[in-house]
Amino acid sequence: MFSSTAVLLTLMALGYASPIVYRQEASPFVFTNSNGLNFTQMNTTLPNVTIFATGGTIAGSSSSNTATTGYTAGALGILTLLDAVPEVLNISNVAGVQISNVGSPDVTSSILVQIAHQINNVVCNDPTMAGAVVTHGTDTLEETAFFLDATVNCEKPVIIVGAMRPATAISADGPFNLLEAVSVAINPAARNRGAMVVMNDRIVSAYYVTKTNANTMDTFKAYEQGNLGTLISNTPYFFYPPVTPTGKAAYDIRNVTAIPRVDILMSYQDMSNDTLYSAVSSGAKGIVIAGSGAGSTSSNFSLAMQDVITMHGIPIIDSTRVMSGEVSNSGFDPEDPSPISSGFLNPYKSRVLLGILLAQMRNVTEIAGAFNGSATFVG
Ligand SMILES: *[C@@H]1O[C@H](CO)[C@@H](O)[C@H](O)[C@H]1NC(C)=O
Ligand SMILES: *[C@@H]1O[C@H](CO)[C@@H](O)[C@H](O)[C@H]1NC(C)=O
Ligand SMILES: *[C@@H]1O[C@H](CO)[C@@H](O)[C@H](O)[C@H]1NC(C)=O
Ligand SMILES: *[C@@H]1O[C@H](CO)[C@@H](O)[C@H](O)[C@H]1NC(C)=O
Ligand SMILES: *[C@@H]1O[C@H](CO)[C@@H](O)[C@H](O)[C@H]1NC(C)=O
Ligand SMILES: *[C@@H]1O[C@H](CO)[C@@H](O)[C@H](O)[C@H]1NC(C)=O
Ligand SMILES: *[C@@H]1O[C@H](CO)[C@@H](O)[C@H](O)[C@H]1NC(C)=O
Ligand SMILES: *[C@@H]1O[C@H](CO)[C@@H](O)[C@H](O)[C@H]1NC(C)=O
Ligand SMILES: *[C@@H]1O[C@H](CO)[C@@H](O)[C@H](O)[C@H]1NC(C)=O
Repeated sequence: MFSSTAVLLTLMALGYASPIVYRQEASPFVFTNSNGLNFTQMNTTLPNVTIFATGGTIAGSSSSNTATTGYTAGALGILTLLDAVPEVLNISNVAGVQISNVGSPDVTSSILVQIAHQINNVVCNDPTMAGAVVTHGTDTLEETAFFLDATVNCEKPVIIVGAMRPATAISADGPFNLLEAVSVAINPAARNRGAMVVMNDRIVSAYYVTKTNANTMDTFKAYEQGNLGTLISNTPYFFYPPVTPTGKAAYDIRNVTAIPRVDILMSYQDMSNDTLYSAVSSGAKGIVIAGSGAGSTSSNFSLAMQDVITMHGIPIIDSTRVMSGEVSNSGFDPEDPSPISSGFLNPYKSRVLLGILLAQMRNVTEIAGAFNGSATFVG
């Protein structure tokens, strides 16, 4: 593992030498607020931001500065992140909360519940906090972003940010992405827009964003819905005034401590229905189908879906394995339940939403309402 000193030296060699000396002693914190958040500096004229670190490439280290694969995701902590971008401290006071230190495939729903609770408690409820930034691996970043968009109920910006290149690569994208994320989090024009993903100079709605490329930096996009804004020289520019995605409901999960299991199954040629029964017998409380096209499955599988809904009382959301488009509302009848169409939500977002609804003990009519956009629930 690379030491933070080595990272600093690397960055200095690349021209990142900083006039702000970041303290390396045992306790680098100069101020602790009433919620127990530790700040590395406190300049009371600056806005305050809390960074929730979960791990991932943005926190990763590499054995060589030309390797962009094979690094240990989550190896460097949040303090090292700030070492890499001391410029953040010119625009904000930053408190860091290390939620986890894992690659994003290991982020669990219990971590998500924890982040949502903490943002609601220490950011939303604290008038001295401008916003929140969540650093995250990119592979499942859209799931976390969607969850926080649904469950953080305040006007303050929640920015989810990651990196495609490891911290030690030439032209690592993490440091600048983090600076841009903080810039958006403290910007008054970013309020009332829900959660947003900020990477590669783009600001995208967490409700719609998806990872579109497994490797490149220009990966987080909402193909049909576009970007909310961009950053020019680290200054956010929003194309539109604040807007809420059509049909988006808000969820108060203050009383939620766990999210029930929801599995995703994909439609493909030769698919067999025993995977569905296996998911049910393994304990899934809800199922999402990544259907082919506008949500299709084989005839035998469709029969099995209806069987699982009727005989086991398990809700099934019908989404699509296609990158964009809608599985349109097929007219849900609570007296005779059938698969519920996902609308424009992809399978991963549908899974997150169904999990929240099941955690809140919503009935099938309410679940159908949430997916067809007629539900409002909280505010
Ligand atoms: C702040 O620092 C104290 C003392 O080091 C530590 O006990 C506490 O957990 C820290 N708070 C957070 C939110 O990390
Ligand atoms: C505090 O931040 C302001 C910008 O808001 C800056 O002008 C000032 O120099 C900072 N003070 C210190 C001691 O860094
Ligand atoms: C940042 O936090 C400090 C300490 O709680 C507070 O005095 C200051 O007013 C806050 N800054 C802003 C812009 O709210
Ligand atoms: C912080 O701001 C000061 C004053 O504007 C500037 O001289 C310095 O270069 C800035 N530091 C960084 C790291 O951006
Ligand atoms: C949470 O539980 C408490 C106590 O049962 C209840 O009064 C409150 O309405 C619940 N809140 C929500 C948002 O479900
Ligand atoms: C559906 O199941 C029946 C009964 O096992 C089988 O004969 C048939 O080939 C299956 N249909 C398809 C399209 O797989
Ligand atoms: C599941 O598929 C098998 C064929 O693979 C078929 O025999 C069976 O009837 C299907 N089950 C249901 C409930 O449709
Ligand atoms: C579902 O919940 C709603 C309240 O949100 C209630 O009006 C409706 O009767 C319930 N439906 C069933 C089938 O329990
Ligand atoms: C949406 O779902 C709700 C609840 O199941 C239902 O009452 C309503 O008719 C549905 N709206 C449309 C347009 O399908």
